Amino acid sequence: MQKLLVIFLAAGLLACNHRSNTYSELGTDGWLKGTDEQKLEEVAHQLGGFSRTMVEVSYRYSELYWAGEDENWKYAEHQLEHLIEALEDGLTRRPVRAASAKDFLETTLPNVEKAIESGEKAVFDEGFQVLTLGCNACHAKEGEGFIRIQEPLVRSSPVRF
Ligand code: HEC
Repeated sequence: MQKLLVIFLAAGLLACNHRSNTYSELGTDGWLKGTDEQKLEEVAHQLGGFSRTMVEVSYRYSELYWAGEDENWKYAEHQLEHLIEALEDGLTRRPVRAASAKDFLETTLPNVEKAIESGEKAVFDEGFQVLTLGCNACHAKEGEGFIRIQEPLVRSSPVRF
């Protein structure tokens, strides 16, 4: 019984050891250089700012649209949830943008959530139009009015219902 325990523990240690070897082999503990502060700055830089946030928001906006057109309400719910998460995380990194997103977060997005819950395509389409207006309203407030959003015309994702 004791022997078995020793073998078991040794195997466990080897497994741990193996994992940390692979980790350093990948160079993951090598690319961050300098002081802890410099390392954190680099990580923050790698996370990106609002443009990076918007690439994700835009993808989820398009997927949300097609989910609604397909009446795939579970997928619509999934996309809306992650759109909100991406936007909130982006605002955490760029709090100066938060004021312009207030109405969007407090009114527009909950309205889309209700439209999805209704399970009615006509209600969803209306909610989506208001959503699009909200995207553009924030762009205008943030001096990015040249980034005009409209409903996607073609599907770019392989997800079908
Ligand atoms: C805080 C208000 C705000 C809201 C709400 C908002 N945006 Fe943006 N968006 C911005 C800002 C600011 C930029 C420019 C970011 C930059 O260049 O740093 C931007 C840029 C973009 C870009 C260009 C990204 C790139 O660099 O390639 C797209 C696409 C975009 N937004 C889509 C959307 C969509 C779709 C919605 C609605 C679902 C939306 N945005 C809602 C503020 C907002």
